[in-house]
Amino acid sequence: MILVVGGAGYIGSHIVKELIKSTKVVIFDNLSTGHGWAVDNNAIFIQGDLGKEEDLEKVFSTYSIDAVMHFAANSLVEESVINPWKYYENNVAATLTLLKIMMKYGVKNFIFSSTAAIYGIPKEDFLTEQSLTNPINPYGRSKLIIEQILEDFSQAYGMRYVVLRYFNAAGAHESSLIGESHDPETHLIPIILQHLLGKREKVLVFGSDYNTRDGTCIRDYIHVTDLAHAHILSLNALLTGKKQTATYNLGNGTGYSVKEVIEACEAVTGRQATIEYVERRMGDPSQLIASSEKINRELGWKAKIKLPEIIESAWSWHKKMVGLEKENSLEHADWFVIKNRDRYL
Ligand code: UFG
Repeated sequence: MILVVGGAGYIGSHIVKELIKSTKVVIFDNLSTGHGWAVDNNAIFIQGDLGKEEDLEKVFSTYSIDAVMHFAANSLVEESVINPWKYYENNVAATLTLLKIMMKYGVKNFIFSSTAAIYGIPKEDFLTEQSLTNPINPYGRSKLIIEQILEDFSQAYGMRYVVLRYFNAAGAHESSLIGESHDPETHLIPIILQHLLGKREKVLVFGSDYNTRDGTCIRDYIHVTDLAHAHILSLNALLTGKKQTATYNLGNGTGYSVKEVIEACEAVTGRQATIEYVERRMGDPSQLIASSEKINRELGWKAKIKLPEIIESAWSWHKKMVGLEKENSLEHADWFVIKNRDRYL
């Protein structure tokens, strides 16, 4: 049985959809940023706080957990610059509590969601796992601290882990049942699509004076379903003993500027965006592009979904969201899952 911490969130819920095909899943989430409607009905759902030992004890004492996948984190770069305490409390201290309870119950397999933000300002065009880690914001630092803790725990306690460093996760599930939905939304692709659906007046482009081909930031966008496949391969590598510890970058290996992403969204939707160039956002590096050669070589993973298809899947989801919001059925779905939860506690 696999415990998915943060399984009601954007990335966690997509991984659950893959996992549930072959194994039993327990989702643990406090629904602070996740959604009741994103909880897979075939999984067991426990609502609880990662930082509370008693909530975690309830899970580990009830279920026989083989491995933990940990997605619960705050992940907004600018917010982390403004309120670092929140990031060290929720991303570092709470994860330490989780690791402590795992050790107590002898659960040693761990998959950790890390980020490209640990690299800071890259010195090379393609970031490999060997590239210098020098985060320029508290969010990146909070993730790097856990990576280092995992190294120490593996030496001292025999912890087995895979760290997955995501570049820019985007897109939605092929079913359009789940997709990206943050409140407030800060991510580029959902913001552009919300604008093209008439929910925002314009798209603000943060900075046009970066040292890039068109002056806007370059990122490597990776579909959540591609991320999900990497998680399954990593889990199998741990459970079969193929890997004791590993760290992998997950990206497409192609960088798109903010302007290029807007143009790609216009091409997919056939709609024209209104853009306004504004100041740089705090904590943003100019360019982040992955080399994912290592996971390709060791586990046979390669991203399959390119930017236009990523945007198409997100577009289907966002159009559906608009319909659901009109009918108020999202609220209903949230209520339904939370009611069902009582069966399991
Ligand atoms: N951007 C805009 N306008 C917007 C929103 C974003 O110009 O309205 C720009 C950002 O400045 C950035 C790019 O679009 O240059 C992508 O921004 P996102 O907010 O979509 O994503 P980030 O690159 O900030 O963050 C993502 C993940 C983080 C991860 C980070 C690595 O969400 O978890 O990549 O830097 F840490």
